Amino acid sequence: MLSNLDHIEQQALKALESIQDEASLEIWRVAYLGRSAPLMPIFDQLGKLSTEERPIIGRRANEVKRTLEAAYSIRLETLRQSTLQRSLQTERLDVTLPGRNLPFGRLHPATISMREIVRAFAEMGFQVYRSPEVETDDYNFGLLNMPPDHPARDMWDTFYTSMPNVSLRPHTSPGQIHVMRQYAPEPIRAILPGMCYRYEQISARKETQFNQIEVLAVGKNITLGDLKGTVSDLAHRLFGKNIRTRFRASYFPFTEPSAEYDFECLLCNGQGCAVCGWTGWLEIGGCGMVHPTVLQNGGYDPEKFSGFAAGIGTERIMMLKHRIEDIRHFWANDMRFLEQF
Ligand code: FA5
Repeated sequence: MLSNLDHIEQQALKALESIQDEASLEIWRVAYLGRSAPLMPIFDQLGKLSTEERPIIGRRANEVKRTLEAAYSIRLETLRQSTLQRSLQTERLDVTLPGRNLPFGRLHPATISMREIVRAFAEMGFQVYRSPEVETDDYNFGLLNMPPDHPARDMWDTFYTSMPNVSLRPHTSPGQIHVMRQYAPEPIRAILPGMCYRYEQISARKETQFNQIEVLAVGKNITLGDLKGTVSDLAHRLFGKNIRTRFRASYFPFTEPSAEYDFECLLCNGQGCAVCGWTGWLEIGGCGMVHPTVLQNGGYDPEKFSGFAAGIGTERIMMLKHRIEDIRHFWANDMRFLEQF
């Protein structure tokens, strides 16, 4: 039995010498240390040996087993090291290669437009005032000189909610009342930017959601000339001195007199295109002198105070600046469009 153990040991160690990869080493482990290894029957027979033979054979069998286990561990470690060395040599990193560009976040074009307009007004001394997007009927219409059933309410295709007298604001003009009530009787020079919502027939220049900036100046001796000067100044600050602007007489219940103002359509250089409805002009907003009733509702004495107000469509400004031929691009979330800004 002792010579059999010597033979098993020599044979196993010899076989181990020629092993070059971990898969073959695993086969070797199963063959010489597994359940069917030649060592195992010897351990099984120990109980049948005489009391003199049992410790001698048992000690030697354990010695052979430990020798083979140690040889296996050393071989395994050697093979792992050489695999590692090989992969370090063949899979070397080229640290001189340029890195991958990180995708930077961008501002949404509507935000860019909003900020440019806000900056222009800030330079003219206007402060920003925020007002709610969800309004009561009173603020949206009533306090703006449109009592219930006033036909002019139809000028705004309003989204009503399931709550009585609560709707999404169709324009930023209700903010006029908020800001006046907060500051009366102090003079005001404020702009109110924000999202508006209308149940609108969508087209190249009309969306169901869009941004407006309300402009409001209230004080003593404010005239229509101040309004025209402010709107023209805005056009020049945004588009340079050569942009042509025009005012057209119009009607809004909350201003008297009222007007709409257009900027020359820069998509077609005033020649006429689908965006400007073939007129050569793009309507940017409505405006006028604040109606005495509205001044009163805001807490100002119309005998002593006057004011002007205007609403600007901010996406329309961006359309002119960047020759965007369809307003629907703004909220379609197509990255190919958004990444251009
Ligand atoms: C108004 O909303 C008035 N509140 C403006 C006003 C303010 C008048 C203060 C007098 C005093 P209007 O509905 O015309 O007016 O809208 C003003 C501007 O908002 C339009 O000229 C346009 O630039 C923009 N706008 C209106 N509807 C849409 C729409 N559906 N999609 C995109 N922009 C729009």
